[in-house]
Amino acid sequence: MWPVILCIAVTVVAVTHWLYRWQNPRCNGNLPPGSMGWPLLGETIQFFAPNPTWDTPPFVKERMKRYGPIFRTNLVGRPVVVSTDSDFNYMIFQQEGQLFQSWYPDSFTEVFGRQNVGSLHGYMYKYLKNMVLYLFGPESLKKMLNEVESVAERNLQKWAGQESVELKEATANMIFDLTAKKLINYDPEKSSENLRENFVAFIQGLISFPLDIPGTAYHKCLQGRKKAMAMLKKMLEERRANPRKEKSCFFDYVLEELDRGDSILTEAIALDLMFVLLFASYETTSLAITVAVKLLGDNPRILHELTDEHENILRNRENTESGLTWKEYKSMTFTFKLINETARLANIVPGVFRKALKDIKFKDYTIPAGWAVMVCPPAVHLNPVNYKDPLEFNPWRWEKMDQKGASKNFMAFGGGMRFCVGTDFTKVQMAVFLHCLVTKYRWKTVRGGEIIRTPGLQFPNGFHVQLTVKDKQQQDPSE
Ligand code: HEM
Repeated sequence: MWPVILCIAVTVVAVTHWLYRWQNPRCNGNLPPGSMGWPLLGETIQFFAPNPTWDTPPFVKERMKRYGPIFRTNLVGRPVVVSTDSDFNYMIFQQEGQLFQSWYPDSFTEVFGRQNVGSLHGYMYKYLKNMVLYLFGPESLKKMLNEVESVAERNLQKWAGQESVELKEATANMIFDLTAKKLINYDPEKSSENLRENFVAFIQGLISFPLDIPGTAYHKCLQGRKKAMAMLKKMLEERRANPRKEKSCFFDYVLEELDRGDSILTEAIALDLMFVLLFASYETTSLAITVAVKLLGDNPRILHELTDEHENILRNRENTESGLTWKEYKSMTFTFKLINETARLANIVPGVFRKALKDIKFKDYTIPAGWAVMVCPPAVHLNPVNYKDPLEFNPWRWEKMDQKGASKNFMAFGGGMRFCVGTDFTKVQMAVFLHCLVTKYRWKTVRGGEIIRTPGLQFPNGFHVQLTVKDKQQQDPSE
């Protein structure tokens, strides 16, 4: 009898102590205020709760009110410090590799691969980043400009012949095909297998609760990864068996590196990189284009100014039939303001994750070594102290602001060493698409356009529009 009572007593004490430690983690200083939520679950369910607004997620907003700009929580079993403080965010980005290191939850790493660029550090990371910049840097983009334009023109023409088009899906397909061609020379019309199909359930899975059992969004997402990786591997093997004299895509470049013998690149790293680039390029940019078109439709004055800018480009051109030049692209000043304003409001990346490499002091707080830190861009972009009337779509606000790269108050593309390598590619795609759209077409919303954040941005009912070729006499392309 006594041993049983003793056993129960020891268990009760151990569980009570564990519960106490869950709520009061050890720290050599003052932890930021906050709650660690339920044992094991933490505050994961509240974090993923859908909300239908453009504003800072209620999860963050409520805690900012209660605890201030830096607070602690627990997400998917991990202690996390959430930062909505511009100065702390800046420090986090600048101290990459010193005090903080890029880190993403295990569920992300499972999906993107253990050796994806976001999980690599030091020499290997720099090597990969240079490879990506070779592909998406200004010199490559200059060469790509006319191809981006003809792809946009072709697709818009096709959509204009349809009753309605779901813009998010349509632009995602358009960008996926273009990126897949540049990366791996993939042509969906010539391939027996559909690569894009494997990415369909992806975004829902990536930002859902990471439960890998049949039927869940996360499970579907992992299955998609498996199939896509098998296809990429097969394509790489086929290319190796039939090498090309002229390097025509990124695959050829990767193969040359892999065959060099002394290269640090491995096949697994190269395949993870392809996978991340394919996903990052189509999902982010298609969302940004859809948000821009939706907001333009809701704001005729902005659409008018944008149309003016692009019609002027055509008016000032000697040969009206020639394609866009790099100089013309660079002259799209209002468009770049509009792209920044779209990225500020869209908050496509709702959280940027890091891990504290040592105990870190900031103001009165200590972040213990090993803890995760989540920079929350929406809270900075939608703070009225940083942006007057933050929910208003107002590209003109960028007139007096730095529009290049990142700043303490603008981190839609991250900041510091890990600043998004695809930013220029996205800007080219968006600007060229908008150029083709507003100079030749008008559109009206057929249905959808509502947003939801979980906390990643989604259009649950899509955004269905009807496109018609613009009548030359008409001023305004949107009804
Ligand atoms: C609207 C479009 C986009 C947005 C909002 C966006 C946002 C971001 C953000 C916030 C980061 C920083 C992540 C971090 O610090 O952990 C990032 C990194 C990255 N982005 Fe983008 N991105 C966009 C488009 C693209 C495109 C088109 C590509 C592909 C060509 C791309 C590839 C990457 C890669 C590979 C990284 C990792 C860089 C690193 O770890 O150094 N992104 N992006």
